[in-house]
Amino acid sequence: MSRITITRPDDWHLHLRDAEHMRAVLPDTARRFARAIVMPNLKPPVTTTALALQYRDRIRAALPAGAAFEPLMTLYLTDNTQPAEIEKAKRSGVVHAVKYYPAGATTNSDSGVTDLEKCRGVFEAMESCGMPLLLHGEVTDPAVDVFDRERVFLERVLAPLVERHARLRVVLEHITTREAARFVATAPPRVAATITAHHLLINRNALFTGGIRPHHYCLPVAKREEHRRALVEVAVSGIPKFFLGTDSAPHARHTKETDCGCAGIYTAHAGIELYAEAFDAARSLDRLQGFASHFGPDFYGLPRNSENITLERSEWRVPDELAFGPDKLVPFRAGGKLKWNLV
Ligand code: NCD
Ligand code: ZN
Ligand code: ZN
Repeated sequence: MSRITITRPDDWHLHLRDAEHMRAVLPDTARRFARAIVMPNLKPPVTTTALALQYRDRIRAALPAGAAFEPLMTLYLTDNTQPAEIEKAKRSGVVHAVKYYPAGATTNSDSGVTDLEKCRGVFEAMESCGMPLLLHGEVTDPAVDVFDRERVFLERVLAPLVERHARLRVVLEHITTREAARFVATAPPRVAATITAHHLLINRNALFTGGIRPHHYCLPVAKREEHRRALVEVAVSGIPKFFLGTDSAPHARHTKETDCGCAGIYTAHAGIELYAEAFDAARSLDRLQGFASHFGPDFYGLPRNSENITLERSEWRVPDELAFGPDKLVPFRAGGKLKWNLV
């Protein structure tokens, strides 16, 4: 197959940042995807419906002329989030999920949840109105090895949570392990997962190829090859619980190339092309449409998109760096080749 036409995809996990940084990256996503679940980890975080509405207005105002792109907003869960805020969010029609960050787990997660017990009432409100909970699924216990933090999260946090809240819909975001793939595959239908393109394409060796590679550093950090293979297996399986979420996470070059570099990989410049490459390598291009365009809206209870996009097999070179407002960023595969192109 050298050309493939699929329903226009959506990105179910995206970081757009704000202001001039947002204006720099938004066109990459809007060109490929019809909708995206926009992460709320701004500084300060998007903790209320009112803040989400304002952020949505800023995104829409920054869209290139003629772009038909719809930002789907999320709320940042804190220890102080009230059940009434969830009801307000649901009524707004523009907030589609609530995001759980364990405090300190990842970029801008300082206001995240310190104690799940404090969120019981909020989770009950989410169960009642069918609002999904999106999870950054890692424990922050410094005694747990950084490569085990997702696996331990499944046992310590996710399994009890799914059990205690029998109607809660959850999406385990950016899964990186065989254990997470298996957990989600065997859980009830209300439990789903997103998978990034980079976790389908690289393993942890990519962090250390010939030297330390800060642009391959993200959280959860890439794992061993056997885990990458397990992710590819479920991504191409046709199981509707697994769908596309790029976790494209732009950071200025100087904040990654430093002695304490930020976590996050920018993939929006090739947000669908990279998945095409991963599915092609697994000889499963026929499964791309379900994963990229159907299973996400089905899970969120939204209509599938009606337009199509076409990808063709033709090599192109990724720039060494991209403008990022007043800064620069280094995109995934910078200076390297990509095998698929958006027509
Ligand atoms: C994300 C970011 O930069 O906002 N970074 C990352 O490594 N994935 C945060 C996140 O999704 O955990
Ligand atoms: Zn995360
Ligand atoms: Zn993310």
